[in-house]
Amino acid sequence: MNKPDAIAADATENVVHWQRFSVPYEYPVIFSRDIFSPFSSVLSDVLARAEPAKTHRCLVFIDGGLLTAAPSFADRVRQWFNANAPHVELAVEPITILGGEAIKQDPAHFEEVQSAIHRHGIDRHSYVIAIGGGAVLDAVGLGAAVAHRGVRHVRVPTTVLSQNDSGVGVKNAVNLKGIKNFTGTFAPPWAVINDSDFLSSLPRRERISGIAEAVKVALIRDRKFFEWLEENVGRLAEFEREAEEHMVRRCAQLHMDQIANGGDPFERGSARPLDFGHWVAHKLEILSEHEVNHGEAVAIGIALDVRYSVLAGFLRAGAEKRVAAVLKQLGLRLFHPALLKPGPDGRPALLAGLDEFRQHLGGELTVTLLEDLGRGIEVHEIKEDLVLDALRWLEGQEGAQ
Ligand SMILES: NC(=O)c1ccc[n+]([C@@H]2O[C@H](COP(=O)([O-])OP(=O)(O)OC[C@H]3O[C@@H](n4cnc5c(N)ncnc54)[C@H](O)[C@@H]3O)[C@@H](O)[C@H]2O)c1
Ligand SMILES: [Zn+2]
Repeated sequence: MNKPDAIAADATENVVHWQRFSVPYEYPVIFSRDIFSPFSSVLSDVLARAEPAKTHRCLVFIDGGLLTAAPSFADRVRQWFNANAPHVELAVEPITILGGEAIKQDPAHFEEVQSAIHRHGIDRHSYVIAIGGGAVLDAVGLGAAVAHRGVRHVRVPTTVLSQNDSGVGVKNAVNLKGIKNFTGTFAPPWAVINDSDFLSSLPRRERISGIAEAVKVALIRDRKFFEWLEENVGRLAEFEREAEEHMVRRCAQLHMDQIANGGDPFERGSARPLDFGHWVAHKLEILSEHEVNHGEAVAIGIALDVRYSVLAGFLRAGAEKRVAAVLKQLGLRLFHPALLKPGPDGRPALLAGLDEFRQHLGGELTVTLLEDLGRGIEVHEIKEDLVLDALRWLEGQEGAQ
């Protein structure tokens, strides 16, 4: 079939009309503070982008975990809408929705989002605003993406991981049939607003583990950023505000750059270049029965893949020690006993993670390793004996300074 021709007749006289068009996507990712101060116009400017003169109706969902940590926050949202009327309007009182992975596990919560969109008359010119962690953004984002085939969705991420990684992208999903992110879409949001004030109510564990994604993207894309992380690791571990904001912003920018300029925003190929360390991470989360959270698992995955890169001869020896030092200074562990949990054949079940990683995208196995600090390299084969060597090295790092 001759693809470039608009119309082609092949030998069997079939007539093929190639349909072809492209749709440009653009959305702002804003970094700000205290966006629900009555005087802040960050959100109202975002809502007014397309139709400045009208009243913008909004359906607001708030992560229940955030409200437990900051109970007065729902009042602040109400007050902001009152202060900014008549340009903005709440379709109904802000809706509290279950936070954390549980929202993605039970289809009832997705249904709750759809029902609210229906009941409160949200159309394609109104807004669904999700304020919460990556799980809430994923579940509400899916509801917004499929209701009326897509209503405008504003994301307000409230965890480190959702501000520096998951929230700035184009995907959403819930889990189905025991498979993570089985049901989802690619749906670029109307806008993303990262407000660093939200981070102060996060438990230390959540706030630290999200930094692993910054170490990850620095290692594969930006040596200078890695060196900055090395120099500022103490400030980051103390949650010094400017350092934390810089870490979030640079990490988010590098993720945005991959989506816009990596050539595959909707992941149709076999590679996910930013998933460095993630073949281990995804498997470890399951093997540890989610005792290890995503960021913590990514830290271990990074450490293993950096050591593997050295053992396989891609990366100069010594680099892995620098990476391990940064992760340890953040208080992240480099080993977990579940890494050695035996599978049905007696060997570590972790090794099956490689095939599962390949299956998720389909096609050939593609794993990102390092050829230098700041420079990733894609490989299509991982040697099991070297993985086992790397695992022993990680185990030896426990307790070692
Ligand atoms: N769509 C994507 O591209 C993408 C990419 C990576 C990860 N994800 C998804 O993101 C999810 C993980 O997101 P996460 O790391 O943000 O965790 P999370 O959403 O599970 O939130 C962690 C916990 O923090 C609570 N919380 C949220 N904000 C808070 C705040 N400011 N103060 C106090 N508590 C708060 C939540 O209620 C929850 O209990 C996973 O489901 C993952 O699959 C999506
Ligand atoms: Zn990740």
